[in-house]
This record gives sequence, structure tokens and C-alpha cells, in this order.
Amino acid sequence: MHLPRLTSLLLPLQLAAAAAAAASQPPRGRCNDVDILAGQHVVYSWAASSAPPQELLDLTRQGLVGGVILFGENMDANTTTNVARLKAAYDASPAPGLLRRLTGRRAHFFVSTDQEGGYVRRIAGAEPKLSAKLMGSAPDPAAAGKAGGEGAAAALKQFLHNVNLAPVLDVFREAGDFIDFKERSFGNSSAQVVAAAVPFLAAQQAAGVAGAAKHFPGLGAAPHDANTDLQPVTLTQSLGELRDVDMKPYEAAIAAGIDMVMTSWALYPALDAKYPSGLSRKWVQGELRGRLGFRGVTITDAMEAGAIAPFGDAAATGLLAKKAGMDILLASQRNVTQGDVIRKAIVRGLKSGALDHKEFDAATRRIAEMRSKIVA
Ligand SMILES: *[C@@H]1O[C@H](CO)[C@@H](O)[C@H](O)[C@H]1NC(C)=O
Ligand SMILES: *[C@@H]1O[C@H](CO)[C@@H](O)[C@H](O)[C@H]1NC(C)=O
Ligand SMILES: *[C@@H]1O[C@H](CO)[C@@H](O)[C@H](O)[C@H]1NC(C)=O
Repeated sequence: MHLPRLTSLLLPLQLAAAAAAAASQPPRGRCNDVDILAGQHVVYSWAASSAPPQELLDLTRQGLVGGVILFGENMDANTTTNVARLKAAYDASPAPGLLRRLTGRRAHFFVSTDQEGGYVRRIAGAEPKLSAKLMGSAPDPAAAGKAGGEGAAAALKQFLHNVNLAPVLDVFREAGDFIDFKERSFGNSSAQVVAAAVPFLAAQQAAGVAGAAKHFPGLGAAPHDANTDLQPVTLTQSLGELRDVDMKPYEAAIAAGIDMVMTSWALYPALDAKYPSGLSRKWVQGELRGRLGFRGVTITDAMEAGAIAPFGDAAATGLLAKKAGMDILLASQRNVTQGDVIRKAIVRGLKSGALDHKEFDAATRRIAEMRSKIVA
């Protein structure tokens, strides 16, 4: 047998080559399980083209990235190839094995975008061509909603996506207000929203694309210029109105098995005068999980939003969102650093005891279950 001698000869050479490679590259190292698990609670983004930066590919290969969000600027002729590279990096990483050991689920890499319909479509020219408003006011809203959900899922799958951050469940109040002016709301009554949005989300999920009902508990009363991306927004409906109008569509979506709920960054003093919904335990644990009985995954709106800037930087707001009970934090600044800052803040929070391990583990299980049901 020559093999042992051969390997004993080769091994020092390989080690020398590996050491030389390591010296010329940033330290790779093996990641701790907690680093990898925290990475599954963050959705990353990057700038300018479909090609992910090497930094993101490296982090993904280490198991530190569970998902990404793409925008219009990331959609081009090479998006499919580039998303496939990220998925391959994840598949080759320790993350899927760790998730399977801990949760029993084969969790796929999460690839999301906003393909709501009409004006808000990151894959330009693709379905759903009708806006939510047009689906909701169609002669047969259920059929229009179902066609919209099927169309969105098919378009996303062509680009290897498996999550749509839709449908919008906001019930708009005034023509031209914040959620109406780009026709993002299915209607101005809870019933009209439900009629189209529930068939939309059901069709999408039946095609293996997870949905996120947004923006809980509702942005329907926001005036035209009240954009939480840019500034703090306070909505002053009574708790009665929030429950009877804005949250009604969530009851229907939850009954229909919606995978995810995305919280809003508006402040609703009727329930919590201090924290915007996505930073508020009263909203996330009390109202959404407690009163409405939601058992799926919660996901924040953009962590870089102006509305939460008064609560601190990405690390501070990331920790607040986790404390409130948010499962996935959306680092959508087109910047890999933001996601990494948030991931590290979660790890520190777990190590210091600021975050509860049982809650973190329960969130990991929900995330893995959701990601096991979507197309690979
Ligand atoms: C796609 O990738 C090819 C090969 O790397 C490159 O030549 C081309 O410019 C890229 N196209 C776009 C739209 O980025
Ligand atoms: C919704 O809009 C329609 C048409 O503009 C209007 O007739 C109706 O009163 C509105 N419903 C509510 C609940 O505001
Ligand atoms: C990237 O994100 C970090 C953390 O959120 C932020 O401090 C930084 O300014 C961002 N950089 C760019 C170029 O956007």
C-alpha cells in the first residue's frame, strides 16, 4: 500500500499551501454554533448589481447568512446565476446541517424581494402587472388575487427567489394617502382587502413561495407623506379601530396559514406610546401572538428606517427588535456591514443574557420550519 506514505508526504505540502493561502486572506476559522444560528435571524442585502460582494459570499460560506433581500438594482440578466452562487455557498456551509440537527428541518436559503404588483415590483415587467388596488377592485377580487399570487410566485421562481414580502394588508383610508398613492392597498375596507389578499397569499404559498403579510398592525391610516422609511410616524387610531379595521385582515391571513407577518415601524400610542410596532413587545407578543394567535415567523421592516433612528444604531435597534420578539431582522441597506453588525449584536445579546435563549431557539425553529417549506 503506497497510500499512507503518499498522504504522509502530501499532508505537509497541503498544510504549507493552506498556511500560505490563509496568510494572504482574512481569517476564515470555524464559526461557533451561536454565530451561525444568529445569522439565520438576519436577512442581508448588497448594492448596485446582481453580483454579491465577495464578503457576502464568504460570510454565507461560513454559515453566517440565512437569507437575502434583492431590490431592482440587483435584478439583471445575471441574477439567477448569482443567486445560485449564494445558494451553493449556503448549501456548502455548516448552517443547513446545524439547523437540521437542532430542528429536524432541511432549511433552504431564503431569497426575498418585494413583488407586490403594479408600481411595486422589483422584477420589472413581470407579474403581477395589476396593482393591489386593481386586484381588489376587479369584478372578481378572489380570482384577481389568486392570479396575482400565482404570477408573483412564477416570476420569483424564475429568479430563484422563494419569498415574496407581500401581500400588503393595509386598509387605506383616503385616496392618495401613503399606502394608496402607489396603489399598494387592496381596498379601503377590511373585507375588500381580505377578498383579494387571502387568495393571493394562498396561491403564492401553494407554489412554494413564502409570503409576508404587512405592515402589522396597519399603515392604512398613514397620510401621504408619512413614510416610516424616512421619519418617525405616529398613527392615532383607537385600539378599537385598529382591531376592527386594520387588524381584521390579519385574522383572515392567519386562518389561511400565512407564513410570515412583517411589522410596521409606525408608533401606535393606543397600545404602546414608547415603541413602534416592530420594537414593541406589546404589539409583537401581546397583540400578534397573544390575541391573534399567530404562530409563524415575524420579520421586521427595513432596519435602516428613519422611523427607528431615534432608538439607536443598527446594533441597538437590532437588540430592541429581538427583545420585542421579532424573529427575522431585515438588513436592507444594500450594505453587507449592516447585516453583520446586527448579527454580532444578537450574539452579544445572547452571551450577555440580554436576550432569552429559549425565545431565540423558538425563533430558530419557526424560521427553519418556514424555510423547509419553500422551494430550494
Ligand atoms: C453578466 O455576466 C457576464 C459575464 O460575467 C458579463 O459579461 C455581463 O456584463 C453581465 N451582465 C450584466 C447585466 O451584469
Ligand atoms: C371606499 O371607497 C368607496 C369608493 O370611493 C366609497 O364609496 C366607500 O364609502 C369607501 N369605504 C370606506 C369604508 O371608506
Ligand atoms: C453600512 O451599514 C453600517 C451599519 O448599519 C453603516 O454604519 C454604514 O454607514 C453603511 N455604509 C454604507 C456605505 O451604506
